[in-house]
Amino acid sequence: AIHLEGRHFLKELDFTPEEFRGLIDLAAELKAAKRAGAEVPRLRGKNIALIFEKASTRTRCAFEVAAADQGASTTYIDPAGSHIGRKESAKDTARVLGRMFDAIEFRGDAQATVEQLAEFAGVPVYNGLTDDWHPTQMLADVLTMTEHADKPLNEIVFAYLGDARFNMGNSYLITGALLGMDVRIAAPRAYWPAEEFVGQARRLADSTGARITLTEEVADAVRGADFVATDVWVSMGEPQEVWDERIKALLPYAVTMDVLRATGNPGVKFLHCLPAFHDLDTSVARGIHGRYGLTELEVTDEVFESEHSVVFDEAENRLHTIKAVMVATLAPPLTSVG
Ligand code: CP
Ligand code: NVA
Repeated sequence: AIHLEGRHFLKELDFTPEEFRGLIDLAAELKAAKRAGAEVPRLRGKNIALIFEKASTRTRCAFEVAAADQGASTTYIDPAGSHIGRKESAKDTARVLGRMFDAIEFRGDAQATVEQLAEFAGVPVYNGLTDDWHPTQMLADVLTMTEHADKPLNEIVFAYLGDARFNMGNSYLITGALLGMDVRIAAPRAYWPAEEFVGQARRLADSTGARITLTEEVADAVRGADFVATDVWVSMGEPQEVWDERIKALLPYAVTMDVLRATGNPGVKFLHCLPAFHDLDTSVARGIHGRYGLTELEVTDEVFESEHSVVFDEAENRLHTIKAVMVATLAPPLTSVG
């Protein structure tokens, strides 16, 4: 069984393919145990701090429910509720929380902040999303892929469409490379992941056998795909002014039924980390509808609600995979398996 006691969980590149797959296997075991009513709490007495500088539904709830299932307790620190980044540095915050907690989760803008917390906390630090990476989401997505694909991970053809220069695009690129997948990204060139990350993916691919394709052509990316994924076109922390350029640039990359048909795979599955921009009645959504006549953006309602869509399995799997990260990094090794 995977054992990563004391390790941080900051980005996919910090893990070997074996470690990453070990976390997926552990998550699958924990999911089965919970379903069978046979979960063994291995985190009794542990306290986990959850720092959220940005909003969250899934990630926060996954950490809280996973910790409770395992007998641990959590303290939620909301975006306005602590001194971090205002009256107190990340370095000092890390040294304070590290004296009280057994682990710290952080969600915010800068990868440098979560790295700094990790450097000074003295306890495991988990990245709950930064502008660069969303590694706990990758565990959930890969678990979902193992559940819905009838082939090993290194035979999966994975296509990501849309804004690929942010956390989700970066993370899919590296995760696919790590696990030996055929990873295709379709976006306008300006929305491709940074050169540095593409280079890292290509170096990983040399040893894992992954294939990496960056293209502006949707049809080239999705041909033969087992999974088609996308993400919102404007991410948390970005100004509202970018909507114009995003919609103009990314509308041809929306996941529609035509895109799914272009895979040539009747069993293709659709992934989205959520939240998704469709079926919304918020002021932003009303504004976009007023200006562009659009009610759905990166994915159509038709795809989202179709039998191809596995987005709620993916959302549930946040719970089991985040639990796996906490168990692997915090629980003492099992001495006997019975
Ligand atoms: N997918 C995801 O991270 O969702 P939340 O923003 O709700 O945590
Ligand atoms: N790219 C999105 C992901 C949300 C889970 C964001 O950063 O807002």
